[in-house]
Amino acid sequence: MAKAVKTIGVLTSGGDAPGMNAAIRAVVRTAIHQGLKVKGIMRGYAGLLSEEIVDMDSTSVSDIMHRGGTILYTARCMEFTTPEGQEQGAEICRKHGIDGIVVIGGDGSFRGAGKLAALGVNTIGVPGTIDLDIACSEYTIGFDTAVNTAMEAIDKVRDTSTSHERCSIIEVMGRNAGFIALWCGFANGAEDVLLPERYDGNEQALINRIIDNRKRGKKHNIIINAEGIGHSTSMARRIEAATGIETRATILGYMQRGGTPTCKDRVYASIMGAKAAMLLAEGKSNRVVAYKNGAYVDFDIQEALSMKKDIPEDQYEIFKMLVR
Ligand code: ADP
Ligand code: F6P
Repeated sequence: MAKAVKTIGVLTSGGDAPGMNAAIRAVVRTAIHQGLKVKGIMRGYAGLLSEEIVDMDSTSVSDIMHRGGTILYTARCMEFTTPEGQEQGAEICRKHGIDGIVVIGGDGSFRGAGKLAALGVNTIGVPGTIDLDIACSEYTIGFDTAVNTAMEAIDKVRDTSTSHERCSIIEVMGRNAGFIALWCGFANGAEDVLLPERYDGNEQALINRIIDNRKRGKKHNIIINAEGIGHSTSMARRIEAATGIETRATILGYMQRGGTPTCKDRVYASIMGAKAAMLLAEGKSNRVVAYKNGAYVDFDIQEALSMKKDIPEDQYEIFKMLVR
């Protein structure tokens, strides 16, 4: 039997992502439209446990659509990974009259949401991560902005790399996922992409390709390296020593996670946030909102967490074909 909710909470958790504010705005305004009260929980699960809970109304989310980051702040919270922390979190929800929560974050945050659902607090997850590494969804909030930010930065590095006829290793975010790296590989016309899902550590093969490219008259060599592989600076030193071609490393870092969200991130995040609030209003729990096959859908949290996502092999093969 669906449990009726009267007051919902909303929190952002894990790494922030541009577009999270659009999702928060949509959750708040949709919930109000459905006759629900809304509370903002600051700093993810950490703020839940420390009871940093504020009332929100329609104006609390005015003028935030275009801002990067998250107005609710975000955090990682070890305490919430323990059964005691989760019990305490559920108890605090009851104390504040919160009977449903929208959790905007990644897989880790959804694990926490699943635990709260099992303890009787209705929860809905919204995929928010620049890494695009949520298996049940073809879209995650922030990826579009992050990949465009990285692409523009790489274009700039490419200009100077060409002028100096250098090789450039450019490190993009993605500890476990190579989607930003692969997309920049395509969008920036890079010579190589090193993806956590694919890289076999064969640096000699990489060096051979650089030498071959130079023989074929290429003025620069752009190699996009994902953060999960890392070591870009030492890699650059070794490549320069082995090829005799001046090589520089650029680590793009946190700039990829900030900035004003793209139109796509604002729109998708708004729709997902609204869908999440509607699911709570319908009494649903333990679901993740997703975008799949051109439609907004939702999955059971445990089912969503059991799904796997990999770099599509055909896309990787096309990338390699286009650089040769
Ligand atoms: P993301 O949500 O982006 O994957 P994390 O993996 O850092 O980011 O998770 C964010 C937070 O979610 C953690 O700091 C923790 O509070 C909570 N969390 C992660 N894993 C679990 C788990 N297995 N059980 C309960 N809470 C979890
Ligand atoms: O937001 C995703 C991500 O940027 C990953 O690519 C990276 O591994 C992680 O967050 C790093 O985040 P932090 O340094 O904040 O822990």
